[in-house]
Amino acid sequence: MKNICVIGTGYVGLVTGTCFADLGNRVIAVDYDEAKVERLKQGEMPIYEPGLKEMVERNTHAGRLSFTTSYDEGLEDAEYVFICVGTPEGVDGEADLQYVRSAAESIAKTMKHPLIIINKSTVPVGTGDWVADIVRNTQPSPIAFSVVSCPEFLREGSAVRDFMNPDRTVLGSTDKSAAEAVAQLYLSLRAPIVMTDLRTAEMIKYASNAFLATRISFINEISIICEKLGADVMEVAQGMGFDQRIGHHFLQAGVGYGGSCFPKDVKALAYMADTHGMHPQLLRAVMDINSFQRKHIMLKVQDMVGDLENKVIALLGLAFKENTDDIRESPALTVAEYLLNEGAIVRAYDPVAMPNTTRVMPKIDMCNNPYDLAKGADALVVLTPWNEFKQLDMGKICQSMKQPILVDGRNMYEPAVMREIGFAYRGVGRGYDGVGHTTVEI
Ligand code: UGA
Repeated sequence: MKNICVIGTGYVGLVTGTCFADLGNRVIAVDYDEAKVERLKQGEMPIYEPGLKEMVERNTHAGRLSFTTSYDEGLEDAEYVFICVGTPEGVDGEADLQYVRSAAESIAKTMKHPLIIINKSTVPVGTGDWVADIVRNTQPSPIAFSVVSCPEFLREGSAVRDFMNPDRTVLGSTDKSAAEAVAQLYLSLRAPIVMTDLRTAEMIKYASNAFLATRISFINEISIICEKLGADVMEVAQGMGFDQRIGHHFLQAGVGYGGSCFPKDVKALAYMADTHGMHPQLLRAVMDINSFQRKHIMLKVQDMVGDLENKVIALLGLAFKENTDDIRESPALTVAEYLLNEGAIVRAYDPVAMPNTTRVMPKIDMCNNPYDLAKGADALVVLTPWNEFKQLDMGKICQSMKQPILVDGRNMYEPAVMREIGFAYRGVGRGYDGVGHTTVEI
């Protein structure tokens, strides 16, 4: 059992802290947001994440996990302190490090004994050294500490499973013994541990996210070509994936990647390259293709429905992906905004992301279920691939619509089956499409 303090109770902090507690450690999670800490103490989750609530409850009751706003309390017995605060996008696409700075300063002011400070937030290359400088310069009197970079690779929607079953753990530090001490925390997860220096560890995180985003933009570009040449991108991806050098993951064509990570991290990596006099051409193309993919879906809707003024467009899914209520950078919201600007009446259904969406886009009418959503609509647009959408009674949906137009932005359904049911159907990259828009206007 180790004593661990986690700074930040966002996705990464809450999952990291809870999972470390579940592995038998004593964890105190610190967050400056009093209301959030209060809610967490009552067992209320700030995010929707399968399995997390039960795990928080179990570990809180067992006395291994607690929440506080006080750094004094959090650091009192801690041997390890994990910085898991947000690094949002700054004005020019750079990562905004204000929360990392304030966490480092608070740690420096509060620590009373030697600590290992571990950075889990996605931070620009060089931030580990910067954090060490801040701590050194802020401490009222010198106390030993080491900084280790341990980037997190978990995904929203499967965060607990990802934490407990990592493909690898990356540890970067100039202090080998500190990195080895952090490795002890991860040994029971039985994944390969990559030991490296601070900057390389920070770069591994950006390069991994940028590579995955590149795969998505690659297959999305292929999908557009498939539409022109009459090929099926789903089968293309499957055929490619059997090549072990390629693999099947992250080759699902759709509305483009969203969320709080890929868009921000690709941009931040390009920004780092730019500011060092390089021209990150591939990263730029990845971002351009991703923006175009959203637009391509809107153009399909427009192409099939015609003038959108006062047409009822029904959006199936709002979250940036399934199993989360997160709508940050969600392609669905870009599509909704475009449709509203064109004068359409936009309604939507999502199993969990409707309250978050209403807060930022009150003009979208929310429906109780997919059947109410489709009733009388001029088009149904699939934007999030929730499992519960797979087995809908599509015949009933088709009959209840004003116009049986189905634009499947996530390739949830079989084109032939949908056409047989009576839909005018268009997916993404599924054979000749007939949409005459191939020029990228972003
Ligand atoms: C991503 C990474 O996958 C995690 O490893 C990383 O830890 C995390 O960012 C982070 O940096 O914090 P996440 O953003 O939760 O995780 O979601 P993903 O499952 O990676 O999906 C990202 C987006 O790509 C979603 O919009 C998803 O729908 C889209 N996607 C994914 C596709 O369009 N096609 C695919 O084949 C896969």
